[in-house]
Amino acid sequence: MEFKGKTVLITAGGTQENIDPVRYIGNRSSGKMGIALAESLLAKGAHVILVLGSHQVLVPKHTNLKVLQVQSAEDMLNACMSEFDKVDVVFKAAAVADFKVKQIATDKIKKQGLTELSLTLEPTVDILKTLGANKKQQMIIGFALETNNAEANAQKKLLEKNIDAIVLNIPSEKTGFGKDTNQIVVLHKDGSRWESKLLQKTELATILCEYLEEKF
Ligand code: CTP
Repeated sequence: MEFKGKTVLITAGGTQENIDPVRYIGNRSSGKMGIALAESLLAKGAHVILVLGSHQVLVPKHTNLKVLQVQSAEDMLNACMSEFDKVDVVFKAAAVADFKVKQIATDKIKKQGLTELSLTLEPTVDILKTLGANKKQQMIIGFALETNNAEANAQKKLLEKNIDAIVLNIPSEKTGFGKDTNQIVVLHKDGSRWESKLLQKTELATILCEYLEEKF
């Protein structure tokens, strides 16, 4: 498979779930890996739709790039579903909040008179699982971050979410949120695996795309 001429949907960055009009629950995702993937795929001649949450890096400008800025997990799902029918490949690199605030306050929460504050959270929708359940022609690549039983847990996600491959981030001091380098293992349904070296995220994105072009 070649990415040239394909339409690729990438989710990148973090989601934010509102607490009140001025506060939210977020995460440390920088968006670096997803944006690096977008750049590699654009260089290969793909049309890229980037569904982007919170991020800390510049977003490239390109005639073949469409950027949809989103905030919450629900916004991200809606943006993905509105594009899903026309895409050939999905990279689900975003760090999506697993929980959201059940009752978002309409006014700013005031501290006066409060000695403690509890927030009740409820699960967000699993975007990747929803895309997997609606999958037709699309090849779907998920991402996973695990700290224990990493490969077994990632393999489980691969099957449960009905996707084609999962990219497992190997956690270390040099990898993960905000870092410039990363190391990954790609797992497939047939049990095969491919492990990268520790590389700059930009280099890793290109090598991952080349690997996937050869594999599929
Ligand atoms: N994901 C998603 N929607 C969510 C949560 C996760 O689409 N509400 C996607 C992520 O973008 C990623 C994959 O699911 O591609 C795995 O995310 P991860 O956080 O590793 O796993 P979870 O399925 O959220 O499970 P857990 O956090 O319990 O390990």
